[in-house]
Amino acid sequence: MLGLLVRAVLRSGLVKPYHLVKPVSVTILPERSSHHQDNLPKLPVPPLRQTFERYLLMLEPLLSEEELDHTRKLVKEFLIPGGVGDRLQRSLERRASNKGNWVGTYCKYNKSLEGYRQLKICVDCETLPIEYLGGKPLCMDQYYQILSSCRIPGPKRDTVVNHAVGKVAPTHITVVHNFQFFILDMYNSDGSPLTVDQIYMQLEKVWNSSLQSNKEPIGILTSQHRNTWGKAYNNLIKDKTNKESVRAIQKSIFTVCLDAPMPQMSEQRYQSRVAAQMLHGGGSRWNSGNRWFDKTLQFIVGEDGTCGLVYEHAPAEGPPIVFLVDHVVEYMMEVVRTPMTPLPMPPKLRFNITPEVKKDIESAKQNMNIMSHDLDVNVVFFSDYGRNVPRAHKLSPDAFIQMALQLAYFRMYKMCCSTYESASLRMFALGRTDTIRSCSNESLKFVQAMEHPAKPNAEKVFLLDKACQAHREYTHMAIHGQAIDRHLLGLKLQAIEELTSMPEIFMDTAYAVAEHPNLSTSQAGAKTDCVMCFGPMVPDGYGVCYNPMADHINIAITAFNSCEETHAANFGRGVKKALRDMRSLLEETANAKQ
Ligand code: COA
Repeated sequence: MLGLLVRAVLRSGLVKPYHLVKPVSVTILPERSSHHQDNLPKLPVPPLRQTFERYLLMLEPLLSEEELDHTRKLVKEFLIPGGVGDRLQRSLERRASNKGNWVGTYCKYNKSLEGYRQLKICVDCETLPIEYLGGKPLCMDQYYQILSSCRIPGPKRDTVVNHAVGKVAPTHITVVHNFQFFILDMYNSDGSPLTVDQIYMQLEKVWNSSLQSNKEPIGILTSQHRNTWGKAYNNLIKDKTNKESVRAIQKSIFTVCLDAPMPQMSEQRYQSRVAAQMLHGGGSRWNSGNRWFDKTLQFIVGEDGTCGLVYEHAPAEGPPIVFLVDHVVEYMMEVVRTPMTPLPMPPKLRFNITPEVKKDIESAKQNMNIMSHDLDVNVVFFSDYGRNVPRAHKLSPDAFIQMALQLAYFRMYKMCCSTYESASLRMFALGRTDTIRSCSNESLKFVQAMEHPAKPNAEKVFLLDKACQAHREYTHMAIHGQAIDRHLLGLKLQAIEELTSMPEIFMDTAYAVAEHPNLSTSQAGAKTDCVMCFGPMVPDGYGVCYNPMADHINIAITAFNSCEETHAANFGRGVKKALRDMRSLLEETANAKQ
């Protein structure tokens, strides 16, 4: 089992069910302090006028002149000195001066079994090495939130609990096979951690004692819409045995899902099928019940050696998860065999299925089947080149890939779209992310030129360079806390809290366009040759996650089958073509100069 995990991780699907489960509000309790990082700066509130100037600029490639004029008027009204904008900004600044991280204070987000151990020791002892970006230390808090934590549904609002922060940190993981959950203690009675062989033997015992599939895939309840699951959760934990079993899962360090075989696929579709398996388990007939989707971390291993992990997004962003995968893979290369001490059978968690719970399971199955059928996943391993080519041409690899996405979209739809790219805010205490708006006036000029056969290559290269520079500037601004999206959200939430009516600026079509990212993108750069995947943010959009390696790029694209206009494989082909055309453009132009 472990050997398969080592090999398969090298081409694994690393996925997060970000938008698969309908998001509702989540409360992260309690407000945390940054681990040994008291000197990190607080996230600033950007100047009001600066944000709205940039907001208008961001809207320019997305709106007609007439629409822009209307929005310019609304912005002007909003910014009248002493008016609503100033009032909301002051409230936001007050909030920021009181709290650790003003974005977090709204507390609402609508929306190798061995290698982990070194990380756990570092987490327990709070000795993880601090990471740096551009010479500045980054907030490490998210690393302390991924083990022994779980999201808990509520009828109106979810909470995230982290059991690692208590006096006695949990010592067990949960293992699920054929929809049956087991507790596997990772430590011997003398406190020493289990050896690789001991873990292997324990997993084998779990496997052999659960060869028959459970009739009721209890875990599928966690895939429901959050409010529905909140109600079903209360039904489930009315029973004392159920409550104890659920608690054991919630407290566990993480979950390991030993999956049943999935349907056979052509080689071409295999990676996309694996990504879908990691993301949702394939529906109630396959492995969707072999999960506890509320759990922050679930490692998944298929019978054919397919493996990866799925994570619940509320406690952390992608980078700590990618760090964990890199660490696990690196550690597993060094695994040494060790002597065996016999251990008892891992206990199985019992669930009493009342008629009410059974009904909830049936409804969750139906819902999961609809969602899993609707998700169109396409994994592209682009092997022509990676970070090396843009770097050789003195272009930022991230900006270059974003421009390829812009070009692919423009070619497919003859227009550009509101685009989201996540930018890390970890230079600030408890920072999460803000948005890089990859669609700009500069990106539009570049993609228009690319579709213009008469334009000379030198001009196209010039425009590509300008577009990449604009993207780098936005990135710099975003990671330094000066992007616009969190600020706009803060002002809007502040308006909900203290005003009787919503300012028109937030009711405007332009705001709806900006808030409808047809391209929701994220770089998940890992040392490991893996690919990360998430769902689209809007019904007619794409989710695009890429891992730019030195000489190739792994890209996962998602869309919804229920939308006639989107098609993940077509978009994937478009992205490949855009990347190839952009390289040819650079090389032909460079050769022509010589
Ligand atoms: N010429 C040559 N090299 C260049 C260059 C240029 N013009 N511009 C950049 N590079 C280099 C960089 O110096 C960097 O080198 P390094 O790897 O040796 O440090 C490398 O190319 C990559 O830089 P770039 O591609 O520009 O991207 P980045 O690494 O700065 O990443 C973000 C940009 C936005 C992805 C990053 O800032 C970030 O925020 N990451 C977190 C995103 C996140 O949270 N995602 C998960 C959400 S769930």
